[in-house]
Amino acid sequence: MPPGVTKTRNVGSLIENAEFRLTVDDLKVISEIMMQEAGIALSQAKASLIYSRLAKRIRKLGLSGFHDYCSLIQSSAGVDECKEMVAALTTNVTSFFREPHHFEHLRTKVLPQLIERAKAGERIRMWSAACSTGPEPYSMALTLLKEMPDASKYDIRILATDIDPNVLAVAASGIYEPALLEPVPEGMRRSWFKPLNDGTDRFQVKDELRRLIAFRHLNLIGNWPMKGKFWVIFCRNVVIYFDNQMQERVWSRFMPLLEDDAALYIGHSERVSGAAASCVVNDGVTVYKKSGGRSLK
Ligand SMILES: C[S@@+](CC[C@H](N)C(=O)[O-])C[C@H]1O[C@@H](n2cnc3c(N)ncnc32)[C@H](O)[C@@H]1O
Repeated sequence: MPPGVTKTRNVGSLIENAEFRLTVDDLKVISEIMMQEAGIALSQAKASLIYSRLAKRIRKLGLSGFHDYCSLIQSSAGVDECKEMVAALTTNVTSFFREPHHFEHLRTKVLPQLIERAKAGERIRMWSAACSTGPEPYSMALTLLKEMPDASKYDIRILATDIDPNVLAVAASGIYEPALLEPVPEGMRRSWFKPLNDGTDRFQVKDELRRLIAFRHLNLIGNWPMKGKFWVIFCRNVVIYFDNQMQERVWSRFMPLLEDDAALYIGHSERVSGAAASCVVNDGVTVYKKSGGRSLK
């Protein structure tokens, strides 16, 4: 709280003794917009998180409180602020080689066949669908480079997308604090990262690694412009924020984009549900394989 601001007990506020009043009505407006813009379901249980993240926006914009903020995001002048709100309320936690068994599965069960296909001249695409600040697609690319150091000579690439332009900018810069690189094996770190030499101890991915990945803005509940199919999709730790109906919709939309036998990796607390569940078979812990015989159009 800035100096000089007195704590008061705000009547009707979901948050006691706070600088701004967050009412049930404000929360309803914010939740509805988050659902509409990002598919993210926010219940009253998330009131503290919403308060702490949006109070910063309210101060930055010099508004008097949540009531004004809600008026802004509902108005035509608030289009940009809606995007800021989505960025502020999404969770971007990620790490290199998160859920390492997925990368081991990719390396041993999926890549050998894809490398053969790429060497035979085929176009191979993989997708990190909700890539956050980049560790996930870079871990996919590092796994590929381990098995195929000259991968950039072939038509084998990774699409990395997210709804939040701020995290995409970090991902595209490929600049990371040394602590974040701890899960990256030493040999990989030496081969594919270089010191940034900007007076900090940060590292940056080397061009050979960076050029395997295309970073793009994409909303999983919006239009998907891509036409080609994927051999691998990582969609981890994002649909947990969606309601059941939206989750089923996202899984179903992946199905026609997966090659037969393609791999789908999902988060540890997620499962493929709805119509898509009959188009995939389990191929490990939170790993699915598109089953050749069936397809959702
Ligand atoms: C917790 S991170 C997961 C990052 C990575 N997949 C992982 O597992 O480490 C969730 C990401 O989903 C993104 N996200 C949330 N809603 C989205 C949507 N509707 N479309 C695309 N990305 C979304 C957020 O911006 C955030 O970067």
